Amino acid sequence: MAAAAAVSSSFFTCRFNALSVLLVVLGFVTILHFNKCEAQLSPTFYDSTCPNVSAIVREQLVLAQSSDPRIFASLIRLFFHDCFTDGCEASLLLDNTTEIKSEKFARPNNNSARGFEVIDAVKTAVESSCPGVVSCADILAIAAEASVYLSEGPSWTVLLGRKDGRTTNFTAANNLPSPFDNVTVLRQKFTDVGLNDTDLVALSGAHTFGRAQCFTFIRRLYNFSDGNPDPSLNTTYLAELQQRCPQGGNGSVLNNLDLDTPDVFDNKYYTNLQNLNGLLTTDQDLLSAADTNASTAPDVNRFAADQNVFFESFIQGMIKMGNIAVLTGSNGEVRGNCRVVNGASGSQLAIQLRNSEASSAEEI
Ligand SMILES: *[C@@H]1O[C@H](CO)[C@@H](O)[C@H](O)[C@H]1NC(C)=O
Ligand SMILES: *[C@@H]1O[C@H](CO)[C@@H](O)[C@H](O)[C@H]1NC(C)=O
Ligand SMILES: *[C@@H]1O[C@H](CO)[C@@H](O)[C@H](O)[C@H]1NC(C)=O
Ligand SMILES: *[C@@H]1O[C@H](CO)[C@@H](O)[C@H](O)[C@H]1NC(C)=O
Ligand SMILES: *[C@@H]1O[C@H](CO)[C@@H](O)[C@H](O)[C@H]1NC(C)=O
Ligand SMILES: *[C@@H]1O[C@H](CO)[C@@H](O)[C@H](O)[C@H]1NC(C)=O
Ligand SMILES: *[C@@H]1O[C@H](CO)[C@@H](O)[C@H](O)[C@H]1NC(C)=O
Ligand SMILES: *[C@@H]1O[C@H](CO)[C@@H](O)[C@H](O)[C@H]1NC(C)=O
Ligand SMILES: *[C@@H]1O[C@H](CO)[C@@H](O)[C@H](O)[C@H]1NC(C)=O
Ligand SMILES: *[C@@H]1O[C@H](CO)[C@@H](O)[C@H](O)[C@H]1NC(C)=O
Repeated sequence: MAAAAAVSSSFFTCRFNALSVLLVVLGFVTILHFNKCEAQLSPTFYDSTCPNVSAIVREQLVLAQSSDPRIFASLIRLFFHDCFTDGCEASLLLDNTTEIKSEKFARPNNNSARGFEVIDAVKTAVESSCPGVVSCADILAIAAEASVYLSEGPSWTVLLGRKDGRTTNFTAANNLPSPFDNVTVLRQKFTDVGLNDTDLVALSGAHTFGRAQCFTFIRRLYNFSDGNPDPSLNTTYLAELQQRCPQGGNGSVLNNLDLDTPDVFDNKYYTNLQNLNGLLTTDQDLLSAADTNASTAPDVNRFAADQNVFFESFIQGMIKMGNIAVLTGSNGEVRGNCRVVNGASGSQLAIQLRNSEASSAEEI
């Protein structure tokens, strides 16, 4: 494998052993020994089998948003939490069974991941047009793009063809990027899945909408260091947040992540950071932490200066994130019900039916 090289044509990447590229076998010059020839994601994957899938997803999201104004932010977060946990294979959607330890109850998801019923409704609508064709992992990817577009953000061509996994990884879910991580740890968690500093800053821009619970940032308000609030928090904003999140108060109260345009997908997140109006330490640190001048701060300033530059990098980051450890071809399956693997036994299904909804109070 040390001699493995990679060639890519439009949507296929095949690894082969350079030592056996050219072999003279029985007088023929052949290219041999393709170790692994995986199908990659493709923008045209459902063109013949479910050509209208994007429109079906969008229609369901518009419907959902009419009774749940912040659902778009919640759906992006589902995609993010799915992809960072063993890849974009819809593991996050699986409920508890005797075989499955649901990621919905891991610390970063418990009482904050939401939108599962909306994904169910989308899946039902998609199944009624194209039964057994579109994976739950792809539905999450399409829903994330639609959520941005429907919030006045950019639209892009979503690469498709992911299959759904048959396992979860509770440990990995517990290790998701957290609002309590410092920039060093955050950068490492992104690097670990092939995302660089620009991707980190651009994808953090998803905090241009959505909400966060008081407990995720309350440390900044009262006793950040030596009994004082976080010095990198705007004092006007600090006073406002202290009102909303009193010491010893309800840690589940929701707050806008973007104080300027809380439900619009724009670059205000970055101008907020320039005004010391980032809500989470992981937001403000991208600009203000001691160790960010050389890594993340320049991108914050570039995105604040030009919304189109942000949109371009955001799209690139979403596509890269959507490629993390995907299952394609004969790896994985197309689940019939996003909450259970295909062919789950009767007893597993009985347990699945007893599962209560994972979400009540939410982060995004
Ligand atoms: C595609 O789906 C949308 C939403 O359900 C529907 O309004 C539209 O008529 C569909 N188009 C086709 C060609 O089936
Ligand atoms: C999830 O939250 C509930 C409270 O809503 C709590 O009872 C439960 O212990 C939490 N689960 C885990 C795994 O932390
Ligand atoms: C679960 O994820 C962790 C990383 O967080 C990894 O070390 C471990 O191998 C994964 N387990 C499985 C069964 O894939
Ligand atoms: C970041 O957090 C990690 C883990 O808690 C810690 O080891 C490290 O010293 C911290 N780095 C900085 C710069 O604070
Ligand atoms: C991150 O990767 C993108 C390509 O995906 C590239 O355009 C960008 O310059 C990289 N940023 C850094 C800081 O390496
Ligand atoms: C602030 O936190 C420190 C430990 O980080 C603790 O020793 C101190 O008592 C706290 N002060 C107040 C006023 O809560
Ligand atoms: C705390 O706030 C959440 C979110 O607003 C609310 O659902 C919950 O009922 C509150 N809990 C208490 C004990 O007031
Ligand atoms: C605090 O925020 C306000 C707007 O919300 C802004 O006008 C002011 O310049 C900010 N202060 C600092 C120190 O950035
Ligand atoms: C980061 O850069 C800004 C502006 O160039 C400067 O004011 C600040 O002192 C720098 N911070 C660190 C820790 O180097
Ligand atoms: C699902 O399993 C997790 C971990 O084993 C547990 O903490 C959680 O309470 C279970 N949830 C339900 C609804 O059974």
